[in-house]
Amino acid sequence: MNDLIWMNGETIPFADARVGVEDRGFQFADGVYEVIRLYRGRPFTLDEHLARLERSATGVDIPMPLDRGALAAEIRKLVSRTGVGDGMVYLQLTRGIAPRNHIYPAGLKPTLLFYVRPLPPTLPPGEGEGMKLLAVRDERWQRCWIKSIALLPNILAKNAAVAAGADEAVFVDSSVVTECSASNLFAVISGKLVTHPVGSRVLPGITRALLLDCAAKLNIEVDERSFVEEEAIRAAELFISSTTREISWVARWNERYIGQARCGPITIALHHELCKKVRADTN
Ligand code: PDD
Repeated sequence: MNDLIWMNGETIPFADARVGVEDRGFQFADGVYEVIRLYRGRPFTLDEHLARLERSATGVDIPMPLDRGALAAEIRKLVSRTGVGDGMVYLQLTRGIAPRNHIYPAGLKPTLLFYVRPLPPTLPPGEGEGMKLLAVRDERWQRCWIKSIALLPNILAKNAAVAAGADEAVFVDSSVVTECSASNLFAVISGKLVTHPVGSRVLPGITRALLLDCAAKLNIEVDERSFVEEEAIRAAELFISSTTREISWVARWNERYIGQARCGPITIALHHELCKKVRADTN
């Protein structure tokens, strides 16, 4: 792998990249980000990720330094120069450098960077041990549709989960289940696919949106509604979705086993359908 980074228009060795101490991303977590999956060296759903980046940037009043087409071209160029096949692109946009002050001056030059990291291939549908979730109180802000780099609540929740022997934290807001620390959550309840609506409490996951399309193709009824912890624990199937993991089935919620304690048929069917889409778009 050729370890390069694209930073404010220049491509340089990753080890040579420097960010100013007064970058507002560093001092205030004043920025947004994206994680884009690579399969066989091809970015998957790049346009959808860049559209979400634009929405996030607009949501926090940071101007995009490049238009979507130009940015996509730069990302593809960097990916091919690194030689990474299966992996991800991490992209971060911050408001830029200014003397530390909560008030941001007009006309700042944003800091935009992205680089590539290899990832192991995801597990085939239905395989793996099944994840353990730990329920954690959702203490995040109410603009979860913005993919903000201010991830302290997510980081603390995930670390609490791992410290408790779990794999991922699931956020619960006065008994309503929202999403996980770095993934969306789906439940199969009475044969329907149930997931919390996106917006103030839930990130509009790109994988989540793809899975809703997959469900329509498979004639699986979808119910986008909020649901409570008790319903999640009693669900026939439970799984998480994200760019890096695709789908991972959930075996346990705190100490309780979910469904038959194995990956369920709807989860497997959706994952196969998602894999078809990945193959069709990246071969
Ligand atoms: N996380 N919800 C949260 C809070 C997330 O951080 C993510 C993604 C998702 C899933 O979104 P998508 O399908 O677009 O990846 C949902 C990324 C992968 C991360 O932070 O690494």
